Amino acid sequence: MMKNSGLLFLAIGLLSISMLGFAFLPYLSSLAGSSDISGAYSSLGEQIYFTGRGDNGRPIPYDRGPRWLRLMGGGCSSCHGDDGQGGFQIMMSAKESPSIAWEALTEEGDNKHGEEKHAPYDKRTIKRAITKSLNPAGQELDSVMPRWELNQAELDAVIDFLKKLD
Ligand code: HEC
Repeated sequence: MMKNSGLLFLAIGLLSISMLGFAFLPYLSSLAGSSDISGAYSSLGEQIYFTGRGDNGRPIPYDRGPRWLRLMGGGCSSCHGDDGQGGFQIMMSAKESPSIAWEALTEEGDNKHGEEKHAPYDKRTIKRAITKSLNPAGQELDSVMPRWELNQAELDAVIDFLKKLD
């Protein structure tokens, strides 16, 4: 008798869990739907820049970066601005965002992004800055700049987009 009622509870338990699952189904599928952003942007690079989502609309993993970025989501534009010019104070950080337009990063001369002077960026060192937080001199960038786990195709797409900013 005891054994049977235990089974009964188990059955009821399982049943209610699966019903809960059904109740959440529409919610879950609406979430999946909302990540379908293909077509909203004219290139993969632009999509990554504005949304932080890469191939197939997947959110690009990163470490470091501020806590609010995890809560609110977003891409490069959240800190470097829609036009890539940066120049504003980042929420909950003492840092100001630098310009990341291709011209600004790669121009010869007085490159003072951050406190230290360093050589101009090139394609390779820009990729390294995005994925490893290092400037051309090999110095670590401030930890408010996330380390993005972009694949090669996504990196190339972002760089192509930075070239369109000026
Ligand atoms: C949460 C804010 C934030 C986000 C989001 C962000 N960045 Fe940054 N980024 C920064 C800050 C701040 C710096 C400057 C760090 C420093 O000076 O040490 C920086 C630096 C850089 C640099 C080096 C520039 C330089 O002058 O040395 C590049 C390149 C860059 N970011 C590209 C990107 C790209 C591409 C994305 C999107 C995939 C992105 N960032 C997203 C805040 C951000």
